Amino acid sequence: MIFNCDQKPTEVVASQIIPVPNEKVVSESYFILSSNIGMQYDVAFKTSADFLKTFIEEGSSIKIKDNNDITFIKDENIKNPEGYQLEITPSQITIKAKTDQGASYAVQTLRQLLPVGFENGSFASREIAIQCLKIEDAPRFQYRGMHLDVARHMFSVEFIKKYIDALAMLKVNTFHWHLTDDQGWRIEIKKYPKLQQTAAFRDETLVGHFSDQPSTYDGKRYGGFYTQEDIKDVVAYAKNRHIKVIPEIEMPGHAQAAIAAYPELGCHEDSIKVAKTWGVFDDIFCAGKDEIFVFLQDVLDEVITLFPSKYIHIGGDEAPKTHWKTCEACQNRIKKEGLKDEHELQSYFIQRIEKYLNNKGKQIIGWDEILEGGLAPNATVMSWRGTNGAVEAAKQHHNVIMTPTSHCYFDYYQSTNKDEPLAIGGYLPLEKVYSFNPIPEALNQEESQYVLGVQGNLWTEYIPKENQVEYMVFPRALAMSEIAWSKRENINYEDFVSRVEAFNKRLEALEINYANHLYEVEGELISEQGVPSYKLETLIKDKIIRFTTDGSLPTQESQVYKKPIPFTEDMTITAAVFNEKKQLGTTFTETFNYHKAVGKNITLNPDPSKVYSGSGAQGLINGISGSDSRYGDKEWLGFWGDDVEITIDLGKAMEINSIKTRFYNGQGQWIYAPKKIEFTFDSEIESINIPNTNDILVNTSFNRKLKTRFIKLKIPNYGVIPEGRQGSGNKAWTFIDEIIIN
Ligand code: ACM
Ligand code: ZN
Repeated sequence: MIFNCDQKPTEVVASQIIPVPNEKVVSESYFILSSNIGMQYDVAFKTSADFLKTFIEEGSSIKIKDNNDITFIKDENIKNPEGYQLEITPSQITIKAKTDQGASYAVQTLRQLLPVGFENGSFASREIAIQCLKIEDAPRFQYRGMHLDVARHMFSVEFIKKYIDALAMLKVNTFHWHLTDDQGWRIEIKKYPKLQQTAAFRDETLVGHFSDQPSTYDGKRYGGFYTQEDIKDVVAYAKNRHIKVIPEIEMPGHAQAAIAAYPELGCHEDSIKVAKTWGVFDDIFCAGKDEIFVFLQDVLDEVITLFPSKYIHIGGDEAPKTHWKTCEACQNRIKKEGLKDEHELQSYFIQRIEKYLNNKGKQIIGWDEILEGGLAPNATVMSWRGTNGAVEAAKQHHNVIMTPTSHCYFDYYQSTNKDEPLAIGGYLPLEKVYSFNPIPEALNQEESQYVLGVQGNLWTEYIPKENQVEYMVFPRALAMSEIAWSKRENINYEDFVSRVEAFNKRLEALEINYANHLYEVEGELISEQGVPSYKLETLIKDKIIRFTTDGSLPTQESQVYKKPIPFTEDMTITAAVFNEKKQLGTTFTETFNYHKAVGKNITLNPDPSKVYSGSGAQGLINGISGSDSRYGDKEWLGFWGDDVEITIDLGKAMEINSIKTRFYNGQGQWIYAPKKIEFTFDSEIESINIPNTNDILVNTSFNRKLKTRFIKLKIPNYGVIPEGRQGSGNKAWTFIDEIIIN
């Protein structure tokens, strides 16, 4: 509170801006915003000025006049066209920018300096004191994107606008709209009415997770499409908020819906249906017949008229070559064009489309598979299967956008809590998103210039509802916006989290159904003077943790956590965050299995992948098993393509009766259990075969009494993923969790 000239207390909002600005200098005084205040602007900044005026007038009873207490000034000296200066003194608010887009970001910053009541019209006072400060700000990356898949599930135009509004608030400047896929074609193409009649609808939809057996379906027809009028409406709405909309029209793969409508677009003209389950499908556009290119060019002609964006995303991912191999037209094309194989045929396909679009003044973006068989000359690569695609493309002097599954896939689980809504798998908590540096280490300074930016992706197989889109996107999009906008040296997770806690109130006012995992307990096994001990933590520092070790639920009376809990026998810890009055977050539970290898020595060769290194080698013998559904948690270790050797040293020869471990087998995420495992003991070797299965978890156990000090596990990688599966042609991942020795 401060007291204004009339000595009435006035609320002051601490500045907790997301994404954090480059430079901010706060001073002691205040600017009083009330109905005495007016605004003037350079005509170039009308959109931003109108936004601010509307925000204030609709958010409160304050009316803005037209004197010049708040001014928008065009300043050609600001280098970055997206940059701005915001200066608040007791008498003036001055916004300087080179473009209206820059000015709009100043307005979004100013918005975050106003109380959340402005967001929903509930701000009741007649004035507000705004802290005086000076901000100079500009983005780190020119491409700051969020994606949304509307093919697997579709969302209303009204919702898409709400999504765009939220992105604008976070200074995200690109909306990647994934409009076509196997399960539905969602954009009206007037020349091809069956895309609306047939490709836009599926007969029914898979129930539950893809890996649930047996598969069941809901029996309900599902679908719809955006009319060209809807699309124009969305694009214009986004433009007003300085967001470019990039449409994605998938080719040659993920095309089953289109082929269901027009079977002649496939290789064998089979009659197929719009897909009702998830995955990768063999029915892709034929690359041999010229009519396919006529169809796609017609489609793209209509797409171009709707989207002014420089870029058109043409997909390019996950296209099995199964049909191309047996298709006469495709094989003829390979011969006629002197291509080596089907990968070069895919490259031919993409290059032909690129040429067409380049001639219309457009550039293409494709998923990193477009590198295979040779990159189209002007293509931008969206790197999703890790960052290797980005490195390769940047070294070839192609622009890249970073969106690796490990840090940017918001369809992954964000918490290990058992009550999370069903998701595709994986584990991508807020902190991991925040830790992502979009410039790969393998690039030098010159090559780094090709990294345009970064994007969060939301695939919606498991996301039928709009409030669930929000749940998956927020707060992870806050972290994404900050790594995309803010300078590396200004990024600090603890500080970010404290701002998220405040920002959540704004999301609440906007009726955005964000996920709140801020009050969850996190645990970690550490060594305290040689004794394995369990450390509990929570993100928000001013809260307390209460816990029990007997498996009962924590209450207001349970003991307060002060120091790590020794782990010397089987136990179950439950814990939760409390304030003085009540439990805040969900209850955390960890079960400890005190087996013979806990706390012993372990070595790995090679090390796990950096992005799935869990809690390191020691995590395999810490008494804690991994999550049954989230292979990205701290207990699972992931290795990409490598044969793995694990050596455990028990310190002295000991009698053992069994060795148990588990492998994750999430084949949709390219994770395969190995086919065998070999155990080497002090004086013998034994190998066990692992049966082939589709189960998501594969248990293996070795059961025999013997005496040994050393136990070595040799785990050969599954090998190359077979044709027709997701990730085919790539080496599989191996994921292993606790090695339990009794
Ligand atoms: C993708 O996730 N298939 C690009
Ligand atoms: Zn063909």
